[in-house]
Amino acid sequence: MWNPRLPTRRAAPRFRRGNLFPVVLIIILFFSLSSLFLTRKGLDEDDRETPHRVPDKVFPHKILTMKPQIPEQISEQDLWVTPSSFGLHPCTKPTSRYEVSHVSDHFLTVKSNGGLNQMRTGISDMVAVARIMNATLVIPQLDRRSFWKDTSTFSEIFDEEYFIEALKRDVRVVKALPKELESVPHARKHFTSWASVGYYEEMSHLWNQYQVIHVAKSDSRLANNDLPLDIQRLRCRALYHALRFSPPIEILGKKLVERLRDRGGQYIALHLRYEKDMLSFTGCTYGLTEAESEELRKMRESTSHWKIKKINSTEQRLEGYCPLTPNEVGIFLRALGYPARTLIYIASGEIYGGHARLLELSSRFQNLVFKETLATKEELEALRDHASQAAAIDYIISVESDVFVASYSGNMARAVEGHRRFLGHRKTINPDRKGLVNILDKLESGKLSEGTSFAHAIREMHANRQGAPRKRRGPSAGIKGRARFRTEESFYENPYPECICRRNRNG
Ligand SMILES: *[C@@H]1O[C@H](CO)[C@@H](O)[C@H](O)[C@H]1NC(C)=O
Ligand SMILES: *[C@@H]1O[C@H](CO)[C@@H](O)[C@H](O)[C@H]1NC(C)=O
Repeated sequence: MWNPRLPTRRAAPRFRRGNLFPVVLIIILFFSLSSLFLTRKGLDEDDRETPHRVPDKVFPHKILTMKPQIPEQISEQDLWVTPSSFGLHPCTKPTSRYEVSHVSDHFLTVKSNGGLNQMRTGISDMVAVARIMNATLVIPQLDRRSFWKDTSTFSEIFDEEYFIEALKRDVRVVKALPKELESVPHARKHFTSWASVGYYEEMSHLWNQYQVIHVAKSDSRLANNDLPLDIQRLRCRALYHALRFSPPIEILGKKLVERLRDRGGQYIALHLRYEKDMLSFTGCTYGLTEAESEELRKMRESTSHWKIKKINSTEQRLEGYCPLTPNEVGIFLRALGYPARTLIYIASGEIYGGHARLLELSSRFQNLVFKETLATKEELEALRDHASQAAAIDYIISVESDVFVASYSGNMARAVEGHRRFLGHRKTINPDRKGLVNILDKLESGKLSEGTSFAHAIREMHANRQGAPRKRRGPSAGIKGRARFRTEESFYENPYPECICRRNRNG
C-alpha cells in the first residue's frame, strides 16, 4: 500500500456477497451506461506539452441523473462518509501467466517531462514500456525546465532504492547507464502518444541496431485502454507502490497530516488551481480586474509553448473550461452543506490576486490552512525553490484527506482522484463546472438566491460525483481515429476495473 504508516480511518463495509451481488450489478450497469454520456473536455495542463489540443465542442453536455433522494437536512455523516466500495479492493498482483523479468542488456533512458504528477504517471508508463520491450530501465531524468521551478533529481523526490527493489520482478532498473554505453550511438525516439503494446513490440526492432534507446518525453506514451491486464497492473504497482516519495517528503507529509488531524479531526483538501499560469493559459478572466486580465493576456502571448492565444473568457467559462474562482468554490461548498468552521487545507501554489482574492473564500470558511501556516520555518525552507517537492506534500495531504475537491481537472486532480479510488473510493467531490457556472450566473443575475432550493439544486447536481465506484469511461461516442484517445478518462484517474477488484479475485 502506498503509505501503510498512516492510520486508516475507514473501516471497509462488510456485506454478504450473496445479498449484494444483484445490487452491485445494477449499479455497475448504470454507471457504464451513464459513462456513455459523460465526457471530460477542455484545455488541460498537459497542453503545456502538447499544445495542439483544442477544446472540442462536438458533444452535447448530457448527464443521466439517477434522481437521488436529496434530504433537506444534511447530517455530519453525509458530509464526511466515504462512498461505499461494495467490497471492492485494490488488486495489483500479476496473473499466473506473468513471468519474472530477465536481465536485459538493452537499455531505455528516459527524459520525463511535465510537472510532478505528469512525471509520476509518465514514469509509471515507462516502467510498463520497458517491460514490453524487454529493456533495462535507467532511472529517469526529471524535467528541470525553468517554468517548473524545480531542479530536484529523481532521488530527491522519490525513494530511488525502493523503486529499484520494488520492481525487481517486473523490470530491471539501474541508476545509470553503464559507462561503456555512454559513447555508443543511441536511438532517440519520440514515441507516439497513447501507443499500444503492438507499437512497442514493433519498436523493439530498434534493438537490432541499437543497445540504447533514449525516450525524449514520457507523458501519455501508453494507451489508457485495451492493454493486457498484466501491463495495467504493472502500471498500478509502479505508481502506487514503487514510486513512493523520498523519506524526507513522506515524513513531512505525514507530520502535516497529523497536525491537521490535531486541529480538527476531519478536513477537506481543496486543490485550488487558481494560479497565474493556469488562468493565463486557460484565458479565464471572470471576476478579475481589467489590469489583471491584461496581465494574463500578455503572459499568454509571450509564452511560446502555449499555442492558443485568442480566448473568449466568457465562452470558455460557460463551457466549464475555467477553474472555479475562490468565490465560486466558497458558494459551492456552503451549498453542499459544509459549515463555516470546516477545516480546509488549500493545496496549491500562489493564488492569483493573493490575500484579497482569497478573502472571497475565507469570508465563508474561516478555517483555511496552508502549508505556510502548518509547517515550521525550517520545514518550509527545505521546500523553497522546489515546486515539485511542495507539490508532493500537497499530494500526500490530498490523498489522506477525508474529502478531496479540485477546482479544476488537471494532472494533480486526476492523479489524486485515481489514487483515492484505488485506496478505497475515498470521498472525492468532482464539481460539474459547466452546471455550476450556469446556476451561479442565475445567482449573480438575481434569478436565484442562496437559499434552500439553490443548495438543493447543487446537491442534486453532485449526488453522483462523489467518487463512488464506477468503471473508467471510454472515448466519447462519435469521435473517430486517434482523437478519441483524448476524450477517454485517463487510466490513472480511475484504474477500475484492472487494479480494483471484488474480493478473492486475482488477488
Ligand atoms: C521479450 O522476451 C520474451 C521472453 O524472452 C519474448 O517472448 C518476447 O517476444 C520478447 N519481446 C520483445 C518485444 O522482444
Ligand atoms: C465572447 O463571447 C460572448 C458569448 O458568446 C460574446 O457575447 C462576446 O461578445 C464575446 N467577446 C468577444 C470579445 O468576442
